[in-house]
Amino acid sequence: MYLLLIGTLLLPLVSSCPLGCSCIEKRFLAICDAADFGSVPVGLPSDITELSLSKNRIKLLSDNSIPANLGLIKLDLSENQIFDISTLAFGARNSALQQALTTLTLHSNQITLVPTEALQNLRFLQDLSLGGNSIKWMRAESFTGLTRLNNLDLSSNGLDQLAADAFKGLDNLQSLNLSENSLKILSPGMLRHLTSLSTLDLSRNSIRMISPGSLSHFTRLDELFLTANRISALDPGIFTTISHNLKLLDLTRNEVTSLKHGVFRGCNQLITLKLGHNMMSYISEENEYPFQGLYKLRVLRLDSNRLISLPATSKAWNDLKNLQELYLSGNLLQILPEFEPITMLPGLQKLDISANLLSTLKAGSFRCFPNLENLDVSNNVIS
Ligand SMILES: *[C@@H]1O[C@H](CO)[C@@H](O)[C@H](O)[C@H]1NC(C)=O
Repeated sequence: MYLLLIGTLLLPLVSSCPLGCSCIEKRFLAICDAADFGSVPVGLPSDITELSLSKNRIKLLSDNSIPANLGLIKLDLSENQIFDISTLAFGARNSALQQALTTLTLHSNQITLVPTEALQNLRFLQDLSLGGNSIKWMRAESFTGLTRLNNLDLSSNGLDQLAADAFKGLDNLQSLNLSENSLKILSPGMLRHLTSLSTLDLSRNSIRMISPGSLSHFTRLDELFLTANRISALDPGIFTTISHNLKLLDLTRNEVTSLKHGVFRGCNQLITLKLGHNMMSYISEENEYPFQGLYKLRVLRLDSNRLISLPATSKAWNDLKNLQELYLSGNLLQILPEFEPITMLPGLQKLDISANLLSTLKAGSFRCFPNLENLDVSNNVIS
């Protein structure tokens, strides 16, 4: 009886939790967010596998500042003021921490240089977020040792150039986020080590051109985001090497004035093509139509351009057997074409032609969409 009493008195002590944190024992989790910590609190339960210290005021991660005996799988240090991370911040090589950590979030701090030395022994790291810092440039082999890294977030850093070998060693990287930086050009070599990449986000940079061959290393690329850049010309052939896998291509909010023939040639797996908010005034009719061969395309966005007409010939459309949604709102269309009788988009369910200059709708305009369910013709001048 006496022993039992001592036992129950001691128990809460064993699984104590530092003031300012809450520990969820069943999930081996300690949450110490927004508690004004200037360093990692002492007295964390030794069996936790996740630690969140987001929204504190930690400035410095000095040697061993994360207890190296903790077998943390996830560590969240986002939204602090960290500007320096010393070589042994995550303990010595092969510490419990180094053997366990798979997810490290350093989002929204004040880091100016990738902490290569501190990171290089985190051999099991899969997800690393360095977004929202002030990393303006990167040394060669910045991520050496991180051979298992899958996802790397470097968004919102002000990066304006990438050293040719910056990403060397990231043989298994699947997703790279470089959005909201200041990159001006995408050139061959910059990302050449990333042969496993399936998602690349380059949106919200200042990229004016994609030079030929710069995408040629990405034979497994599924999703390419180039939203909100300054791309005006897309040269035929730039997507050729990635064409076999590409499923999503987002070119929304660029300065594309026309689509040269053959630009999407070979993109026969493409499901979503976003070209809204560009400056196209016509769909090219030379030799070949740009959407020919896009057999799997389901969503085509051409909204908010300056289109004054659409091609009427069936050759321009008939490969789009799987198209389900076509967005044409916010253009300058005065009439919808009298499509050739053999034109057929049997999959089309949604057609948005709102906010154009249509004054009449002709019977022939809709006969090629036998399965249309949703038609928006609002904000036109139909009398
Ligand atoms: C890249 O990062 C930005 C900013 O953090 C985010 O909004 C976007 O969704 C990310 N991209 C991908 C593909 O996850």
